[in-house]
Amino acid sequence: MKFNLVVLALFACYSVSEAFWNPYRRFFKRSAAPTRAGESGEPLFLTKLLQDGKIEEARNRAKVNHPLLTGAESYSGLVTVDLKTNSNLFFWHVAAKSNRQQAPVVVYLQGGPGSSSLLGLFEENGPWKVHRNMSVTHREYSWHVNHHLVYVDNPVGTGFSFTDSEEGYSTNEEHVGENLYRFLRQFYVMFPNLLANPLYVVGESYGGKFAVALSHTIHNSPDAKLNLQGLAIGDAFVDPRSQLHHGDFLYQIGLIDHKAKEKFDEDEAAAVECVERNDFQCALRLVDELLEGVDGQESYFKKVTGFSSYYNYVTGDEDDTGDNALMKFLSTPDVRKAMHVGDLPFQNSDGHGKVAEKLSEDLLDTVAPWVSEQLSERPVLFYNGQLDVLCAYPQTVDFLLSLPFDGSEEYKDAPREIHRVDGDIVGYRKKAGNLREVLIRNAGHMAPRDQPKATFDIISSFTHRKSF
Ligand SMILES: *[C@@H]1O[C@H](CO)[C@@H](O)[C@H](O)[C@H]1NC(C)=O
Repeated sequence: MKFNLVVLALFACYSVSEAFWNPYRRFFKRSAAPTRAGESGEPLFLTKLLQDGKIEEARNRAKVNHPLLTGAESYSGLVTVDLKTNSNLFFWHVAAKSNRQQAPVVVYLQGGPGSSSLLGLFEENGPWKVHRNMSVTHREYSWHVNHHLVYVDNPVGTGFSFTDSEEGYSTNEEHVGENLYRFLRQFYVMFPNLLANPLYVVGESYGGKFAVALSHTIHNSPDAKLNLQGLAIGDAFVDPRSQLHHGDFLYQIGLIDHKAKEKFDEDEAAAVECVERNDFQCALRLVDELLEGVDGQESYFKKVTGFSSYYNYVTGDEDDTGDNALMKFLSTPDVRKAMHVGDLPFQNSDGHGKVAEKLSEDLLDTVAPWVSEQLSERPVLFYNGQLDVLCAYPQTVDFLLSLPFDGSEEYKDAPREIHRVDGDIVGYRKKAGNLREVLIRNAGHMAPRDQPKATFDIISSFTHRKSF
């Protein structure tokens, strides 16, 4: 059954003529439906309760109670961000384990576009890990140890978030930012005790764009008293123009030869030209041929390396045991009931799905000006796994070196420091103005999953203003 689902998903992926490039596709491509319809309770819509001032009732009803989800206090439900289109964002808030009055609030946004932030929760940095036998264990370096975590399925159409109308989907980052902002305002109505705590927005991969979009919206909404103190982006996909240089990187690490490098160089240069004249469909086609495969053909990357995954050049293809376990878990009626999602479909159809399709003009567009804007206001951390091919570290550095911001001159000269945790060298860091830039050793695209202790230390240092 599990195998059939995978095969089906693969066919679905290859049957679309217009493929969409996205930094998360192969990692997670399945969707989950409840195993038994009608036994999962009802989705919890919180907006009406909040509007009616029933704040305590909203919190009580959103509280997650499940015998397997122990050791952390958490709340989940749906917040309506657009009444006209009935667009709703699903969130899961995990309260900090200690120091609740001061602990920073972290809004965590997964990439894709179209990847559920529950991936981050269960596979990267949340309090729980789901195993194949459906047992749940605690994650030692869960970020909730010293942060209030808010995982949001975003944009609408992702994970358990949904809209009833074609117009509800996001087609650009302004819309993404607006929806997230409307969510966040209501979140704070529900948890007013967190308003004074420092707020950090964290995004991974394409979630970097979302994080920047939300920060930009907060920045331009002076009416809101949100205590935004910084943002962090892991293995960022924020500026395709400076990031489309895979050929060079792959050649240097020995994964392709000089002939393949030439092909990559040529096609990527052509893609950048398309981007420069704002022809994003042309750019997408070229990048898809290189990395994703179009019209049922395997990608050029797969053809020359043999790998379908580009998230970690040492481990190679992804082991999807964790994904399969999570999908099964999220299909279980008693889990769905505890999460307050009822029979809502869980959608992770990245790449060929509605969310990516609607964002097709945005996929290869940049958010660089907003990154500059944020850097002039507050600390911004870029961290990268050393082994990530897709959003490779040198490309992030190239982007940052080309970015105009307060501190760009300082960055060009900034000394590199060794980052140690308990004596181990876990990475290297630089600081210039508001910019913090870190390489995490022995990690791929999903750095918190690959190096949980190091990533926990780095994010905590950043949000607690220690060492950098
Ligand atoms: C379930 O799997 C986990 C991880 O592999 C293991 O530690 C645990 O003992 C297993 N539990 C049962 C009941 O088999």
